[in-house]
Amino acid sequence: MKKIAVLTSGGDAPGMNAAVRAVVRTALNQGIEVFGVIRGYNGLIKDELIPMSLRSVSDIIHRGGTVLYTARSPEFCTEEGMRKAVETCHRHGIEGVVVCGGDGSFRGAQDLTNHGIPCIGIPCTIDNDIACCESTIGYDTAANTVVEMVDKLRDTSQSHDRCSVVEVMGRHAGWLALTAGMAVGATAILVPERSCDFQREIVDRMRNTSNTGKHHFIIMVAEGVGHVSELAERIEEATGVETRATVLGHVQRGGSPSARDRVLASQMGNYAVHMLMEGKSNRVVAIQANKLVDYDINEALAMKKPFNLKKFEVAKEISI
Ligand code: F6P
Repeated sequence: MKKIAVLTSGGDAPGMNAAVRAVVRTALNQGIEVFGVIRGYNGLIKDELIPMSLRSVSDIIHRGGTVLYTARSPEFCTEEGMRKAVETCHRHGIEGVVVCGGDGSFRGAQDLTNHGIPCIGIPCTIDNDIACCESTIGYDTAANTVVEMVDKLRDTSQSHDRCSVVEVMGRHAGWLALTAGMAVGATAILVPERSCDFQREIVDRMRNTSNTGKHHFIIMVAEGVGHVSELAERIEEATGVETRATVLGHVQRGGSPSARDRVLASQMGNYAVHMLMEGKSNRVVAIQANKLVDYDINEALAMKKPFNLKKFEVAKEISI
């Protein structure tokens, strides 16, 4: 293998830069040339590639976002878009592509592999919704960001004896809400994986907590559950506690990656290049029980991640 490319695709995630750095440095160290593709699959379609050197990935390990830029590319899903992307790879002699992104990006990697360009996926998403992988790159940082923000909300909720309903990202998954909700001691955590009994799990819990002398509350809601403003109104009406809704939004995707995400990204980036060198393709790197493993992308995309009910129940038992 003489030339590979690396791209970041889909929603950005803190730690993507650390993954790109690891891919570039590992490849160069193994005598392989590396191109950085600009703006994900769009860069392959438009032939926006830059040769990477050891120094082009200096001073990025600590930076959020992605120096390669990112995009969601509807054009890549068309026959014409795919044809142009494959032509770009052939024109530059690219023999393999490392794709840093989430499930949508892996579908693109699957298609590219089927068109003769071997791809390896590195799971980068704050949603932590890649079933074969216990922790995706960006998830730990995003959880820490949510905790930092909610700690600030707690100060003002406590001062006013209020309830704060906080919406966090996660698309259709509740991992970020669950982990951050547990870390901030939320009175209730609402996730799309589990239905919520409004009276029993919110109103009664708030009342019981109030009876023991605590008069401020955090209700953590995954965006997949939706309508936090309506929920805040319902809570205020049912409990009489003044309630405010806060949508944390894209702030959760930014910021310097945590040590954990940097290390994970460095390990996965290195692993991905070695897989390409071994002739593997259509695989996604994952971490399980602290060990790097890899899965066929088709298999990985078909897997379902079981919701961590135990963690959910523990959070519920002690947040009173
Ligand atoms: O997948 C990451 C994510 O941040 C989701 O949590 C969220 O639903 C989505 O991306 C937002 O996408 P966009 O940045 O395109 O609005």
